[in-house]
Amino acid sequence: MVDQQDPGFDVSRGTVDPDEARRAAIIESLPAVDDSTPLAAQLAADARRRIDLSGRRFPRPTHTRVVTVANQKGGVGKTTTTVNLAAALAQAGLNVLVIDNDPQGNTSTALGVDHRAGTPSIYEVLVEDEDLVNVVQQSTRVPRLLCAPATIDLSGAEIELVSLVARENRLRNAVSAYLEGRAAAGQDRLDYVFIDCPPSLGLLTVNAFVAAQEVLIPIQCEYYALEGLSQLLKNVQLIKNHLNPALHVSTILLTMYDARTNLAQQVAAEVREHFPAQTLRTTVPRSVRISEAPSYGQTVMTYDPGSTGALSYLAAARELAERATVTAPAPDATQPSPTASAAPTATGVGARGADHAGPGQPGANDAEGTSLTAGAPVTAGGPERTSPNEEI
Ligand SMILES: Nc1ncnc2c1ncn2[C@@H]1O[C@H](COP(=O)(O)OP(=O)(O)O)[C@@H](O)[C@H]1O
Ligand SMILES: [Mg+2]
Repeated sequence: MVDQQDPGFDVSRGTVDPDEARRAAIIESLPAVDDSTPLAAQLAADARRRIDLSGRRFPRPTHTRVVTVANQKGGVGKTTTTVNLAAALAQAGLNVLVIDNDPQGNTSTALGVDHRAGTPSIYEVLVEDEDLVNVVQQSTRVPRLLCAPATIDLSGAEIELVSLVARENRLRNAVSAYLEGRAAAGQDRLDYVFIDCPPSLGLLTVNAFVAAQEVLIPIQCEYYALEGLSQLLKNVQLIKNHLNPALHVSTILLTMYDARTNLAQQVAAEVREHFPAQTLRTTVPRSVRISEAPSYGQTVMTYDPGSTGALSYLAAARELAERATVTAPAPDATQPSPTASAAPTATGVGARGADHAGPGQPGANDAEGTSLTAGAPVTAGGPERTSPNEEI
């Protein structure tokens, strides 16, 4: 099994690396930051990021990290985050598969893969037991980036899945078989599998939670940003308890962040207070280039790699790659801290802190034939590392 760090890639910190030294020297030689205007400050920050990040190779994880990108709110940046992080990691030398698990198929569009009606897709995998290998396509623009597309057929899957055996485990089984098949065929191990979810907590999202070890939650920095978050976290906890003990919220990314508004700053501060270990330091600003890219069948990483938005996703991807693979979190790591439910707040987390999973939530009415004891997590490599303190 291929399970080695990239040869020649030194991930240990504190080692003098000529490339690091060169980047540092160039950044050092930049003129003093002109922060007389926000635009000038932004340009200077972008220049530093470009020098620091472009052409950089990111460390390979010790095992295939399967990351579900979820938030039952629509329009918070799930798809945008999935495709841009995936493209950034692939550009940095890693092997990445994106599974489009949303009937809207926006992920497939952004990655430039065919997803017209009739295209073999994740629908056939989930409902008709098709092998994942038969639906995966190579992204047109980014080497090492693969995509299992979604077609409009997937919109019927929520209902069709209900009557199927082991309905919650279908994606997990497909991903496991795919990773094993790659290993058996002598292909490179995948470093990341991202699963983009629809804006709901139905069976498609449950399948994504069961297939993954990690949940990445994009949070849009706006009023009521955290409303519903406690419901999402409760569902993650339910899946963890009943179907997938390895599941945990590893990462939160603040998206569409506008540093000029007090509200965005408040939301960010509140998220960081409740989830200090999970929230990436990098935030993604609102950016026209990010929102334009999908209409050209592209991610912003290829559409305008030097733009602020692309550089932000590149920085976020680096952070994700360099953080320890946080596993076995403290028991409350997937729950808001107790203070979160103490009082209503500007972001609404407190107001919704007492939400309870009701009937119809995953785990409440599991299908016959579905085991409530999960098997081993989907990994192609060895056991997961457990070094939660190794934050950058
Ligand atoms: N950082 C950003 N700046 C500007 N527009 C963005 C940004 N992130 C997402 N968008 C836009 O917001 C809309 C919703 O984003 P999307 O990723 O599709 O959300 P979701 O998948 O959660 O529904 C899309 O039109 C997208 O282009
Ligand atoms: Mg989406």
